[in-house]
Amino acid sequence: MTTSTDSRRVAVVTGAGAGIGEATAKTLAAQGFHVICVARRPGPIEALAAAIDGTAIVADVTDPDAVAALAQRLDRVDVLVNNAGGARGLESVADADIEKWRWMWEANVLGTLYVTKALLPKLIDSGDGLIVTVTSIAALETYDNGAGYTTAKHAQGVLHRTLRSELFGKPVRLTEVAPGMVKTDFSLNRFDGDAERAEKVYAGVEPLVAEDIAEVIGFVASRPAHVDLDLIVVRPRDQVTGATGSRINRRA
Ligand SMILES: NC(=O)c1ccc[n+]([C@@H]2O[C@H](COP(=O)([O-])OP(=O)(O)OC[C@H]3O[C@@H](n4cnc5c(N)ncnc54)[C@H](OP(=O)(O)O)[C@@H]3O)[C@@H](O)[C@H]2O)c1
Repeated sequence: MTTSTDSRRVAVVTGAGAGIGEATAKTLAAQGFHVICVARRPGPIEALAAAIDGTAIVADVTDPDAVAALAQRLDRVDVLVNNAGGARGLESVADADIEKWRWMWEANVLGTLYVTKALLPKLIDSGDGLIVTVTSIAALETYDNGAGYTTAKHAQGVLHRTLRSELFGKPVRLTEVAPGMVKTDFSLNRFDGDAERAEKVYAGVEPLVAEDIAEVIGFVASRPAHVDLDLIVVRPRDQVTGATGSRINRRA
């Protein structure tokens, strides 16, 4: 379905309906990729796919059947960007909301597992595959009230890093991109749509924007086959750690 009349290389971007995924899909399309835009809601990815001459495929990455159906529709995959995911809530371990933890583990960890496992044979067959996994600085550090997200991002990072050794000798490159604060719908979703609380996260700070991360992923995807960018941490100048309320340079 993706290659019979189309010689473009194929990049699958999960979570392409908004934020970092949407910006990445645009960047990769501008570089000549046929981008497969994946998310749960059809509206945003259909509009995006139409704008970038890509293909929208509705799939929840936490649903193995939906991921299997996604894989079946693709003849070829050169690049996979594991981007779907996010955070829910900001509570101490003592007050952990189990359903929010479950959501974070399913979306970030199992979602990455299902999609990677399903597309791996095609990435290997491409002869020059690339897996970019968007983790977070939360994959590298801990912060109070963030353990639901930091544990999920650590696990997602470890899954990704394990592949480097398991795929050694196969033509697949692996890049982990670990952003700090990026202004997207991330905080709105984290706080169940509470716009005021979400806005406070960015008050007085100049956060990254989705395009900053998309440019990095575009750079990664445009390196020659022998160059594997391993781990790229991208922070706003104003942010030292993921800890809320400290080590963030708020001017207002
Ligand atoms: N923004 C930040 O500060 C930041 C920092 C570090 C890392 N990250 C990571 O970067 C990634 C993208 O975040 P973002 O800030 O761009 O978030 P965002 O603006 O909330 O966008 C998330 C995208 O993922 C899709 N999505 C969510 N759950 C999905 C699922 N189960 N299956 C398929 N698609 C799903 C959403 O669309 P649907 O709702 O339609 O499915 C949406 O298109 C996440 O992994 C996040 O953890 C973000």
